[in-house]
Amino acid sequence: MTELLQYKFPKGFLWGSATSAHQVEGNNTLNDWYRWEEAGKIKNGERSGLACDHYNHFREDIDLLVSLSQNAYRFSIEWSRIEPRPGEINRAELEHYRKVLEYLRARGVKSFVTLHHFTSPLWFDWEGAMSVEYFARFSELIAKELGHLVDFWCTVNEPNILAKHGYLEGDFPPGRRDVGSFFRVLNNLIHGHNASYNAIHSVLPHALVGMAKDNTYYIEAPGRLDRLVTLLNHEIRNRYFLDRTKFDFIGLNYYGSKKLRFDCASPQSFYASKVKLGLPTTDMGWEIVPWGLSHVISDLCGFGKPIYITENGIADAGDSKRKEFIKQHLKVIHQAISVGTDIRGYFYWSLLDNFEWGFGFGPRFGLVAVDYSTGERRVRDSAGWYAEVCRNNFFEK
Ligand code: FCB
Repeated sequence: MTELLQYKFPKGFLWGSATSAHQVEGNNTLNDWYRWEEAGKIKNGERSGLACDHYNHFREDIDLLVSLSQNAYRFSIEWSRIEPRPGEINRAELEHYRKVLEYLRARGVKSFVTLHHFTSPLWFDWEGAMSVEYFARFSELIAKELGHLVDFWCTVNEPNILAKHGYLEGDFPPGRRDVGSFFRVLNNLIHGHNASYNAIHSVLPHALVGMAKDNTYYIEAPGRLDRLVTLLNHEIRNRYFLDRTKFDFIGLNYYGSKKLRFDCASPQSFYASKVKLGLPTTDMGWEIVPWGLSHVISDLCGFGKPIYITENGIADAGDSKRKEFIKQHLKVIHQAISVGTDIRGYFYWSLLDNFEWGFGFGPRFGLVAVDYSTGERRVRDSAGWYAEVCRNNFFEK
């Protein structure tokens, strides 16, 4: 990649950060993750509990985001709060999210609203026969009640990750391990997304509806069988959902790339196991592969839709790698834009340290550190650098 002196982004580029309800709000007691935590299924026995208490402190947190010069916020609406039992609507919870959205408008922040970010109400299962209808009904409700305040919609977050961990590897609720369940769920997520897309558009014809898709780059492998499983994994992970859905934009979550080799002992990973690349890693041991993002982006170009990076981030408690991590990924994004790719926004994951699913509170992804015992927020140095980028719409080498 050519080394530039200045990396300037298009006018109107969205700069933001992301969270999801269960990871930050606290007291989400009516969903499947809560039950999972209560059953002691998180490795270290942690529970999301009060998390960042973002539910009560959303105004301060949005103020923080604004003070960091960001102009967009991606967050999710917790379905289990709104519809605790099928068809039963909790109006007070709808009001809560109305306040959040109104506050974002008042502060001039664009909203990216995710309707399903890994958690489901206790009565719901993506493998269930009615899952598509239930999700469409919920989408329509939110579009009718709150849609006038929403700028962008992400129907589902990381459908492949949800299907894989919840139904194939069993380390997310509901803990199933079955390839049939995996494909049934992936198909229901596809139909659920499409039904949600239609439901939102029937209420709001001009709505901008996408998803947050978990694509990764599978690095070319040398052997024939390695190439075969690499292609198979690429098709399932990167293409299966997108090739079967309609959308107004693609939201892309990018965390890294993988090299695979054929492994007949890993049917649950479609006969592949990972080969270490020997690159620097995050606190979670994830290899840092900014250049892989350019391959992921090129693969998405063929869809001819605008792209928003809806998540990209690093667990880095010491804050020693975060600035460089963001910078290297932004360089790749800049390069793609400079050759004509329509990328319109970037959301760092995450605004706050939060509850990282199966890993609990250990990993620290936040631009803002959270002291869970006091609730205190502290802006990390890297967040200051990112704020300058957001303010200037460019950064220097
Ligand atoms: C993504 C999830 C997000 C967060 C990051 C680290 O897979 O969408 O909620 O956990 O990983």
